Amino acid sequence: MIGRRLLIAGNWKMNLDLYGSYQLAKMVAEGTKSFENIDVLISPSFISLGVIGQKLKDTELLIAAQNCHYEESGAFTGEISLDMIRSTGVNWVIIGHSERRALFGESDEIVAKKIKYALLNRFHVIGCVGESLEQRENREQEEVVQKQLDTILRDLSEGELENLVIAYEPVWAIGTGKTATPEQAEEMHEFIRKIVSKIAGEDRGKSILILYGGSVSLRNAEELLNQTDIDGALIGGASLEAESFNGIAAIAEDISKEQG
Ligand code: PGA
Repeated sequence: MIGRRLLIAGNWKMNLDLYGSYQLAKMVAEGTKSFENIDVLISPSFISLGVIGQKLKDTELLIAAQNCHYEESGAFTGEISLDMIRSTGVNWVIIGHSERRALFGESDEIVAKKIKYALLNRFHVIGCVGESLEQRENREQEEVVQKQLDTILRDLSEGELENLVIAYEPVWAIGTGKTATPEQAEEMHEFIRKIVSKIAGEDRGKSILILYGGSVSLRNAEELLNQTDIDGALIGGASLEAESFNGIAAIAEDISKEQG
C-alpha cells in the first residue's frame, strides 16, 4: 500500500439468512466504526441487501451485491438488475468472482460486459481475476490474468475506471486454507498494476486499488497487507465471524495509520 486507502471487503457468498446477516452487519458496523484510515465493505446475499442497506445507511460501512445482470430489466427469470440493487441504497457490486465464472458459466466477455454496464451506471465495482491451480502449475497465471484484465479494461473510459477496484483471487487459494505467499501475491499485484498502467495510463496504474483474496485470515493478513502493491483484501470464510473480520480490519487500520 503506497498512499492508497486500504479496503477490507467481506464476501458472504451463499451464507446467513436475513436475521443472521443483519446481526453480523450490525456487529461489523459497530466494531469498525472507529477506523478512520480504511474502508470496510460487506457483501450479503441479495435477500438481505434491502434490510441491511436501509438500516445501516447512516453508518460508514460500504455494502455490495455479489452479482448483477447487464440488462436494465426484462424477461431474465431469477436475475437482479442494478436498479433493483440501487433501490436498496447499495451502489457497490462484486463482479466476475471465480465461483460465478466456474459454476455459473460467466466468461471473460460476460464479466467485462457486466463491469462496463455497472460502471456506466455509476456503481463501484470489485472486478475479480485469478488463475486456476492447473494454470498456475503450467505457469500460465500471468497470461490468464492478462487476458481477463484486457477484456475488462479495453472498453472503459477514464471516468469509469475511477470506480473500479480489482481483486486478485487465485482460484486454488479460495476456501482451501492455502494462501498465496506474500511474495506470490505481491508479484501478481505488481504485474496487474503494470497492465493497468499500460492500458489506462500510469496514474491509473498507481492509484487503482488491487485487493488480494484467497484464504485471508487473522493469521496471514498482516504479512499480506504489508506488501507494497496489496491495497486490501476480499475475504470469504473469515468474513462470516465478526471477530475475525473486524480483527483483520483492525490490522489494516494499524498498517494504514503507520504508513499514512
Ligand atoms: P476465502 O474466499 O477467503 O474463503 O478463501 C475468498 C473469496 O472467494 O472471495
